[in-house]
Amino acid sequence: MKILTVVGARPQFIKAATVSRIIQKEQGIEEILVHTGQHYDAGMSQVFFNELEIPEPKYNLGIGSLPHGAQTGRMLEALETVIQQEKPNWVLVYGDTNSTLAGALAAVKLHIPVGHVEAGLRSFNRTMPEEINRILTDHIASILFAPTETAVKHLHHEGIAQDKIHLVGDVMYDAALFYGEKAGINTKLLPSLELEPKQYFLATIHRAENTDDAKRLSIIMEGLKQLSTQMPIILPLHPRTKTKLADQNIAIDGTSNLRIIEPVGYLDMVHLEKQAKLIITDSGGVQKEAYFHGVPCAVLRDETEWQELVDLGWNILISPKSADYIYHTIDEFARKKFPAKLDLYGDGHSCNKIVTLLKES
Ligand code: UD1
Ligand code: UDP
Repeated sequence: MKILTVVGARPQFIKAATVSRIIQKEQGIEEILVHTGQHYDAGMSQVFFNELEIPEPKYNLGIGSLPHGAQTGRMLEALETVIQQEKPNWVLVYGDTNSTLAGALAAVKLHIPVGHVEAGLRSFNRTMPEEINRILTDHIASILFAPTETAVKHLHHEGIAQDKIHLVGDVMYDAALFYGEKAGINTKLLPSLELEPKQYFLATIHRAENTDDAKRLSIIMEGLKQLSTQMPIILPLHPRTKTKLADQNIAIDGTSNLRIIEPVGYLDMVHLEKQAKLIITDSGGVQKEAYFHGVPCAVLRDETEWQELVDLGWNILISPKSADYIYHTIDEFARKKFPAKLDLYGDGHSCNKIVTLLKES
């Protein structure tokens, strides 16, 4: 059996690494990895291939950064050629990026069945490019790997046939368990950043709705700056945010306790997450990883696909309406008592279930 896996953006390298690891142990499955080139900086791409031991992609389409239509369109064209050449039994896509949609669309038009990992997530905000990508991908996939019960419910509501939907748990949880063991071994990361365990906040910001609006982005940066008077904040800066801060002339005060660094590799990121007192993020992956590692998380968004963590009380949604609001809400949240954790994301063997289902389908 031949599986053609399409990846392109940072979180997809991490998700695909965990599934690829299981595929490699199986007899009779060949995996062809295609990198669309959506993310291309070494710190956004190659670092994950090196440290997570992901096989080198057979194809790198080198599409790079472009507006949505051009980026997705060029991926679609290039992927069509690759899929025709490779004739896989399955095309496997992850998450909700433009690479996900292009992979799914290219495959389905060639009558190759699509497997969608992380199916059924919804924010119910159709201004988000990710919401469009995930809805379309779910509706053209032949097998949908849902991470949570809620995701399964969303797919049912949208009329997707029951027999296509499989509740497998979350591959990011598998990754957190597997790589979490390795993260932080022998590292001098915290001392090199002059940070003490549980004496800093970790932040990441990259979502289009937070970075493309100059007012919203400056409110977030000001809110973080105010919070950093309490405790240092470490902010590994996504290149999108770096570009937007420069374009929008939002100054970063180098003297504050808000420490901006380049994006880090996954193992360093997990170490930073585990040792943080609290995480502040708009990332889909990071808000769950916070929970996996038992760290409370403030989500700077109006809604989330991972509502169960807000309902449970470990995460809080904060719409960034003013810097003072961000400061006071996080300050109060950080002092809360957090409830016992529940098993919301499977048993750590989602990847095995995905590979078995692909083999048997
Ligand atoms: C993409 C996904 C988003 C995901 C995120 C993960 C879409 C629509 N969005 O958002 O769902 O959460 O990846 O990180 O697919 N850039 C670089 N170097 C890089 C990559 C990007 O400088 O290696 C800069 C460019 O200025 C680019 C901008 O970041 O224009 C945005 O990159 P893009 O891939 O379009 O979207 P992300 O914001 O990364
Ligand atoms: N991540 C990382 N280095 C960083 C920031 C994030 O390795 O500097 C990891 C993070 O641990 C998570 C994934 O990247 O596994 C999340 O990716 P991102 O926030 O870019 O995308 P999203 O999950 O929002 O789609």
